[in-house]
Amino acid sequence: MTEIAIIVLAAGKGTRMKSALPKVMHRAAGRSLLAHVLHAAKALAPAEAVAVVGPGMESVAEEARSVFPQVRTAIQADRLGTAHAVSMAKEALAGFRGTVLVLYGDVPLISSESLAGLAELVGRSGIAVLGFEAANPHGYGRLLRNAQGQITGIREELDASPEERAITLCNSGIIGVSADILWPLLAKVENANAKGEYYLTDLVELAAADGKPCALAVCPEEEVAGVNDRLQLAAIEARLQEAYRRRHMLNGATLTAPGTVFFSADTEIGQDVVIEPNVVFGPGVTVGDGVEILAFSHIEGARIAAGARIGPYARLRPGAEIGAAAHIGNFVEVKKAVIGAGAKANHLSYIGDARVGEKTNIGAGTITCNYDGYEKHLTQVGANVFVGSNSSLVAPVKLGDGANIAAGSVITRDVPANALAMTRAPLDLREGWAARYREMKAARKAAKKKS
Ligand code: UD1
Ligand code: CA
Repeated sequence: MTEIAIIVLAAGKGTRMKSALPKVMHRAAGRSLLAHVLHAAKALAPAEAVAVVGPGMESVAEEARSVFPQVRTAIQADRLGTAHAVSMAKEALAGFRGTVLVLYGDVPLISSESLAGLAELVGRSGIAVLGFEAANPHGYGRLLRNAQGQITGIREELDASPEERAITLCNSGIIGVSADILWPLLAKVENANAKGEYYLTDLVELAAADGKPCALAVCPEEEVAGVNDRLQLAAIEARLQEAYRRRHMLNGATLTAPGTVFFSADTEIGQDVVIEPNVVFGPGVTVGDGVEILAFSHIEGARIAAGARIGPYARLRPGAEIGAAAHIGNFVEVKKAVIGAGAKANHLSYIGDARVGEKTNIGAGTITCNYDGYEKHLTQVGANVFVGSNSSLVAPVKLGDGANIAAGSVITRDVPANALAMTRAPLDLREGWAARYREMKAARKAAKKKS
């Protein structure tokens, strides 16, 4: 198969987003728009990748590298048009001989299948565009066809005649060209159009004039929806969530109220998982088979092993690793902590920077005091430990296997295995005191009222 290189155009600031963040850095389903596009392209195993970014967009380049470590960046200083943007990648692709696919960083729903179909056509025809039937073609470039159905040109809205404007087959913007014809044709593109820009779309007419008619790949309109403002961003989010809910249910998860559950693009869910209403998955979550996630839980960067029960109202933060059949209950927060198989923390706890052994019971209100104001410290709790309610474990500290911590204790030193640790003020018990106190108070109040 022909080698593939991708060029992602990501130089646009996205003024209509009204944001300090470059447009392609905005997120949908826990992943930047740019990363969505790059993940779709990754399935084609491209040999080369170039991101064309605007000046000062180092964060965009870094984001691209987080998906594709080998990606190179080219800077487009002035926005002179899509052809000009692509020409910025020429140096980075010097020596590349295969198929070049041009993608847009703000078109995140594009599928790997559509890209693969386009790449295959380029292998045969030298040039191919990805088109779609538009419900409303306004604003898109129209695809012009000859009698054989080949694409002979692309006309931008502003340059189109009334007859051309009636065409509903539109340009997605995504185009594939073999490298040997791309660079020579690109050099011939002129800016004689209504916008005075160098249009990438002109390649099609130039190729046709060279006796290389352009092939057409067609995809559903939904796939090429772009993001220009936050309304469109929300629409993309909704479409992604719809797709992920479907995917996880078809893979064997029960969602009692699917419309209230929010996944990230990378969420992995096992079989026979039950997810109750109003659960949110941030990035980096893996859920094993048979796990139950009860209502109103928020989970990110966490691994949950088979048979565990999470929530209701649980919060798992990055680095939470919940063991098989463990229980994390209501108002329990777990961060950067390994919870052993069968361990339980059922109520009102904070477990951060910790290791908790198998079958240990963390009582209600237990807090790992992991932060001294300057540094984080580790709490190590062994297996089969019983931590009584409302205990503070002041890290760094270790509790040995089978230890018993009396309720309300503040543990500042290591506790050996099977020991009892208790810090508790002696109980002062006074028979009849409360009754006498009430009598005295009532009498005083009555005397005050009289005077
Ligand atoms: C482009 C296509 C049009 C297609 C439409 C699909 C051209 C000339 N027209 O039009 O046929 O129907 O997309 O949405 O290509 N960009 C740069 N640098 C530039 C100019 C653009 O990086 O100098 C990037 C933009 O950030 C954007 C993409 O290229 O991601 C498309 O540019 P835009 O100006 O939005 O093109 P359209 O007018 O929408
Ligand atoms: Ca556009």
